Amino acid sequence: MELTLTRPDDWHLHLRDGAALASVVPHTTRRFARAIVMPNLKPPVLTTAQALSYRQRILAVVPPGSDFSPLMTLYLTDDTPAEEIIRARQSGHVHAVKFYPAGATTHSDAGVTDITRTYAALEAMEDCGLPLLVHAEATDPGVDVFDREAAFIERFLQPLCARFPALKLVLEHVTTREGIEFVRAAPGTVAATITAHHLLLNRNAMFAGGIRPHAYCLPVLKRETHRLALIEAATGGSRKFFLGTDSAPHARELKETACGCAGIYTAHAALELYAQVFEEARALDRLEGFAGRFGADFYGLPYNTATITLEKHDWQVPEHYPLGNSSVIPLFAGETLPWRIRD
Ligand code: DOR
Ligand code: ZN
Repeated sequence: MELTLTRPDDWHLHLRDGAALASVVPHTTRRFARAIVMPNLKPPVLTTAQALSYRQRILAVVPPGSDFSPLMTLYLTDDTPAEEIIRARQSGHVHAVKFYPAGATTHSDAGVTDITRTYAALEAMEDCGLPLLVHAEATDPGVDVFDREAAFIERFLQPLCARFPALKLVLEHVTTREGIEFVRAAPGTVAATITAHHLLLNRNAMFAGGIRPHAYCLPVLKRETHRLALIEAATGGSRKFFLGTDSAPHARELKETACGCAGIYTAHAALELYAQVFEEARALDRLEGFAGRFGADFYGLPYNTATITLEKHDWQVPEHYPLGNSSVIPLFAGETLPWRIRD
């Protein structure tokens, strides 16, 4: 069986920098025409100038012959000035601004501590149509780790949408039924990305026979009922839900340790994993919209004209891939996957 689709885009991706960048970029460029590149570097991408220089570092390691375009983002802080938003929009290369609540996840310590301090920036974004990408997790230590998304929506996202009704907003890597319901009920300016790992795994995967650091990400995997809601949303044909892998490479030794980093690496098989989900849901005919159309519509970008062909053919995922001077353990390392990209 074969499936030819418009070449898809990844609307949420971590590419890192330096030697790691060169290791991971080819996995994405083999599959995707464009990707929204997250700004949580160390130090973070705070300005348009930094985003443009990061873009050049990415382009320098794109394999020859690839048509890949990185779509850049800024990292929102309490102090992001409205002028920086306007510069970002005018650059033509910055396509969104990422909101990390301070302390919510990897490299989020420079994130937002007081949402009211971002209002000038958000107003500028609302005016110029630059989307806000939200890591929607409450950081209040009193909130249970599995309830952080629902708490953030209630405490921050609902009020934010009421205050900035024209702001384009993406609930990134939505993981819960509450998140899906929020997006469905919101106006057309609100959308969500869904990862392959949250579609394929529930929280049992973190504890299968022992503690599994490579199944740990943020937002953390949730219980089965939430996974089923995500599958329904992704495969149901709604234009509000589109592909965003959140592929997040970490060196093996930083995951397999007493306090391991959050992040699951899926770029090596991203489209193949989504095909598996859509096939299981008997919705392969809806994969093209989710992977290659709805995100472009939301961001106001043209569709890609090239195509990609998937074929039903077993292949074995390598045990690891190089990551700079170290290695990264990919999702489903050593296991057999049913779909592959045809050369
Ligand atoms: O699991 C995650 N990893 N979640 C995030 O929000 C950040 C990401 C990373 O950068 O490693
Ligand atoms: Zn992410």
